[in-house]
Amino acid sequence: MRLLVFDSLVSTSDYLKAFKNPEPFLGVMAYDQTRGRGRLGRVWHASPGESFLFSCVLPEGKNPFQTGFAAAHAAVSALKKFSPETVIQIKWPNDLYCGGKKLGGILCEKQGAKVIMGIGINLNQTAFLPEIESQAVSFFQVSGKKISLREFAGMYFKFLDKAYQALEANPEVFLKTCIAPKLAWKGERVRVEFEGSNIPIEGVLEGIDSLGFLMLQSPDGLKTIHTGELKLWLQPSI
Ligand code: BTN
Repeated sequence: MRLLVFDSLVSTSDYLKAFKNPEPFLGVMAYDQTRGRGRLGRVWHASPGESFLFSCVLPEGKNPFQTGFAAAHAAVSALKKFSPETVIQIKWPNDLYCGGKKLGGILCEKQGAKVIMGIGINLNQTAFLPEIESQAVSFFQVSGKKISLREFAGMYFKFLDKAYQALEANPEVFLKTCIAPKLAWKGERVRVEFEGSNIPIEGVLEGIDSLGFLMLQSPDGLKTIHTGELKLWLQPSI
């Protein structure tokens, strides 16, 4: 495992994507990003020196879709070391949530036989831009603890290695024991929206199946969802 640290990059994931054949477990961290990318073509806002911005080359493994679960579990484990009592949940598939707001996000991109996993965590922010403040939260805001980014990077890297090995050793057990218990909105009415479609699926979130796909009890029966954007469905039941 090798970790490169930069003051600023356009995007830690783009930096790794420029390598022809990067070594597995090469990690990159930056204190700032000028054009961070999120899932579904969105922008990822960084607060210089306060956001954990990290990308890593992971072997493709048995199922690249599941790689993000290892990354999310590692993040929860590392944050718990700093504040064991703070409850952090995973919003399917890989968002980190705390008190109903987004604490972090994960972007997994397939690159040949490897996966470039990028993660952004709001660690030390005391405030957010007006356009995201209703949805975003930082670890400092929920725990009252400020974390050294460098120290967190080292810890996260170790947990990521462990989580990845556990996932590869037995994906079904890993998902059942490490991810399912942390799922946000279990038993709640949710809506899943799909890119390029204005027809969402609504229902009660049942959990994840043995492959990590979302199970939703909809009026038409149990549905398995492979992709999409999960939202809490605030419309009251009739
Ligand atoms: C999301 O929630 O949409 C995923 C956000 C992923 C952001 C991280 S920050 C480090 C890495 N570099 C990027 O450009 N994106 C990821």
